[in-house]
Amino acid sequence: MSADGAARDDAEPHLTVELGDLGLDVGAHLLVQRALRAHGRARVRGTAATLAIDLPAWCRAHGHELERTSAGFAVTRGPVDRRRGAERAGTAAAPAEHAPAHWGLAARGALVEPGAPDLGLTLADRGAVWADEAARLYAQAAAAQWDPATAIPWDAPLDHPPEIEDAVVQVMTYLIENETAALLVPVRFLARLHPHFREVMQLLAIQAADEARHIEVFTRRARRTRDELGLSAADGQRSLATLFDEPDFAVASFLLAVLGEGSFLALLWFLRDHAPDPCTRELARLTAQDEARHVAFGLAHLGRHLAEDPSLRGRLAAAVERRHAALAHTAGLGADVFDALVLLAAGSWEPAALRRGHAAVVALAREMDAGRRQRLLRLGFETEHATALSGLHTRNFM
Ligand SMILES: [Fe+2]
Ligand SMILES: [Fe+2]
Repeated sequence: MSADGAARDDAEPHLTVELGDLGLDVGAHLLVQRALRAHGRARVRGTAATLAIDLPAWCRAHGHELERTSAGFAVTRGPVDRRRGAERAGTAAAPAEHAPAHWGLAARGALVEPGAPDLGLTLADRGAVWADEAARLYAQAAAAQWDPATAIPWDAPLDHPPEIEDAVVQVMTYLIENETAALLVPVRFLARLHPHFREVMQLLAIQAADEARHIEVFTRRARRTRDELGLSAADGQRSLATLFDEPDFAVASFLLAVLGEGSFLALLWFLRDHAPDPCTRELARLTAQDEARHVAFGLAHLGRHLAEDPSLRGRLAAAVERRHAALAHTAGLGADVFDALVLLAAGSWEPAALRRGHAAVVALAREMDAGRRQRLLRLGFETEHATALSGLHTRNFM
């Protein structure tokens, strides 16, 4: 007999499994199963007290045939095999073009038994969600996670006038609600994304963690000096609400990531450059780094999607026009935020400083527009069309 409990029976053309006193309730079934997989039939001998009850029950449950013999049992593998009818959920290395609902939560490349429930994971086409860059961007995001407790100089002195601090708090208030939209809108799609597209799922998840951290640091910065936050303008919220109304993943990420977060990048750089204190400067710098990844993924998967389906370009353009029409009667960026940005850039109440601050905010709007046009060109829009669409983007920035 070999060390694994199996021995050749000279009289029979199949294996004898010697279980000794190992019962089926403590692992003996593994030896029987192994022999059946390899040989289809096995003699089984053992001295466990419950073997005569447990082995027939196990055979019945697994569809195997069992005969009693003078020396023990003879088991023949039955036609029921849990692996029969199972299907590979694509290959581990790369996603399939379409992920069927019955693959469910199975790992990519796993052998999937039939009968898994349909979880309504309807974002299941590679063309609509995939970007080859997703794995690299996810790895980059995982490596670049920063700890708000230590990465921001929370105790750095604030020596600017109280009204400039009011402006900081107003800008933080505005940022928080925009970050909240940037968290919730993609997460609604994440909940419908077929996990076969694992890298995209991971990237959207870590992106949500980024936004959670942004909300945290902006809140913490506002509350450093104030118990109450600033004004949340109804028109700003109306602009963000149009992102929630968008049911199409490609269109939503075009509006949010490419146009909205793209514009936000310029805003965060503006805050970094005009921040009145080191704490605000550093949180603007760190959040901008994260946003650049969010924009990069939007551009990557939309670029791929457009290459496969050029008709998407028309749908994207129509969405910008639709959103513009829906927001035509709103003010866009609230005056409170605009004025706060001017005051931040001015740094004082001197008329000459205010003139400079105002010019800086006008330059910011121009920079946002230039960035949007450049990203639209990257997605293959014609120059004139890119200029027109960028001009129609919400004045609320996001
Ligand atoms: Fe963010
Ligand atoms: Fe973002």
